[in-house]
Amino acid sequence: GGKPTTATLHADKPGATYDKAIFTQFAEHLGNGIYGGLWVGNDRSIPNTNGFRNDVVAALRNLSVPIIRWPGGCFADEYHWREGIGPKKDRPTKVNTHWGGVTEPNSVGTHEFFELLRQVGAQAYIAGNVGNGTPQEMAEWVEYMTAPAGSLADLRAKNGHKEPWAVPYFGVGNELWGCGGNMRPEFAADETRRYATFIKAPAGTKILKIAAGANVDDYNWTETMMRVAGDRLDGLSLHYYVHPAGGWPPRAPAVDFDETGWADALAGAMRMDELITRHSAIMDKYDPAKRVFLAVDEWGAWYAQDPGTHPGFLRQQNTLRDALIASIHLDIFAKHADRVRMTAIAQMVNVLQAMILTEGRKMVLTPTYHVFEMYKPWQDATVLPIDIDTPWYNKDRFVMPAISGSAVRAKDGKVHVGLSNLDPNQSNMVTVKLDGLNAASVSGRILTASAINAHNSFDDPQVVKPAPFTGAQIANGVLTVALPPKSVVVLDVQ
Ligand code: AHR
Repeated sequence: GGKPTTATLHADKPGATYDKAIFTQFAEHLGNGIYGGLWVGNDRSIPNTNGFRNDVVAALRNLSVPIIRWPGGCFADEYHWREGIGPKKDRPTKVNTHWGGVTEPNSVGTHEFFELLRQVGAQAYIAGNVGNGTPQEMAEWVEYMTAPAGSLADLRAKNGHKEPWAVPYFGVGNELWGCGGNMRPEFAADETRRYATFIKAPAGTKILKIAAGANVDDYNWTETMMRVAGDRLDGLSLHYYVHPAGGWPPRAPAVDFDETGWADALAGAMRMDELITRHSAIMDKYDPAKRVFLAVDEWGAWYAQDPGTHPGFLRQQNTLRDALIASIHLDIFAKHADRVRMTAIAQMVNVLQAMILTEGRKMVLTPTYHVFEMYKPWQDATVLPIDIDTPWYNKDRFVMPAISGSAVRAKDGKVHVGLSNLDPNQSNMVTVKLDGLNAASVSGRILTASAINAHNSFDDPQVVKPAPFTGAQIANGVLTVALPPKSVVVLDVQ
C-alpha cells in the first residue's frame, strides 16, 4: 500500500444538511433519455404502467430519487408546453433540433411527466422556456400545473388531472449563455428578472426559482447574475462536465481508456471543488446569509458517444471510473452543503453519465447507479466535517489527493462514512479519529472491480456491483479502513 491516510471526523461539530435535492436526476428529451429509456407508450412487449417501463421505474424507486429535472437542458428553451397536453393524436410533432434532428412526438408532456414522478416517488424540477418562449407562456405553464382554479386549472382537469401539482423547483431557462439564447450576462440577468416576476406560486405553496447559471469557470456570469438578479432568485445554477482528453467536443472513449484516461477524468471531477469554492465566494459577496443556493444542476462525465451510436444521442457506457467520478462529486457537495442545496447528475437514463442503460427490453444498472444507491443515507442527513490528510496520486501530469471522503449523521441517528481510493494501483490504510462519537461497531459495502474500465453490459450485468466490506474496524474511538485500490466504500458506524 501507499503512504497511510489520517483523518478526523468531527461528529461534535455537525455542519449543514445534505439536502436530498443534491440527488436530483436530469431527464431530457434527448436520444433515448425519455423515449425508449423511460417511456414505451403502448408497446406491450415491454412491461409498463401508463407508458413507463416497470423495470426502470422500479430501479429508480430503489434509489429514492427525490427530484427529476425535465424537459431539458437545451431542449427546454425551445419547448412549448401546450404541444404536450391533450389527446395524443392532436399533439404536434417536431424536429428535435438540438439532439439528433429526430422527430419529437410530444407523447411525453406535462401529464406524463407528473405520472412518472408519481410512479418514482419524486418531485418536479421544471425548466421553463426563456430562449424562444414568452413570459406569458412560462407563467401560464406554471398556472396550468399549480393553480387550484381558473380556466387553465379547468383545462388540466379536462386533460385528466383535477388536483394541482406541486412544482417545488422551477428553472428560469437553461444555459442562457449558449443554447438558451446566446445572451450576454447583463441581458440574461435582466431577462431572468422579467421572467421570474411572472412565476407565481398559489397561496400556501412555494416555487423555488433557479436562474440559468455559469458554464464551468465563467465567474463573470455568476457575478453579473448575483449583482443584477440575485434578489429575485432562490437558486443559481452551475454546469460543469468532466471530459478527459481535453477540450470540446468530448472525444475520450467511455470504456477504452488507460490509466492516463482514468487519472485525467478523476482530476477533472476533483476540479468541482475549486469551481464551487470560487462561485460561492462571489455569491457570498452579494448574499452572505446564503439565502440563494448554488444548484449544480448538470454534472457528470461527457465522453465520445459509444461506437456505432447516434452522435446526437450522447449515449455512453459507464465504468468503475464513473463510479469514482460520482463519489468524488458527492463528497465535494458535502463540503459545500451550506451553499450547494441542489445538484443534478446528467442524465438519468441512456444519456451521458447515466444510472441506467436500456436497449429494447433489456436494462442494466451502471456503476454510477450503485454509488447513488450506496450514498442514499446522505439524503437530508447532517454533514459531519471530516479532515483528511491524504497522500497524492499522480499519473503523468494529473495530480490529485488519493483519498476522497465525506461523512453524515443520517436522520435515523446513524453515522455513515464514504471513502474512495482514487489510486488504481495502491491500497491505502485510512485511520479516522472519531471526535465526539462513541461507536463500537462498523459494517459496510464496497464497489470495485479488477479493471479500471470494468462495466456492466446487458450480457454481463453484475461485473461492478456492491459487495460486503470487511476491511474496517473500530477500536478506542478510531476507525481503521484498509481501502483497496480503485474502490468506493460506504461504512455504517454505530
Ligand atoms: O446534458 C446535455 C446538455 O448539456 C444539456 O441539454 C445542456 O444544458 C448542456 O449543454
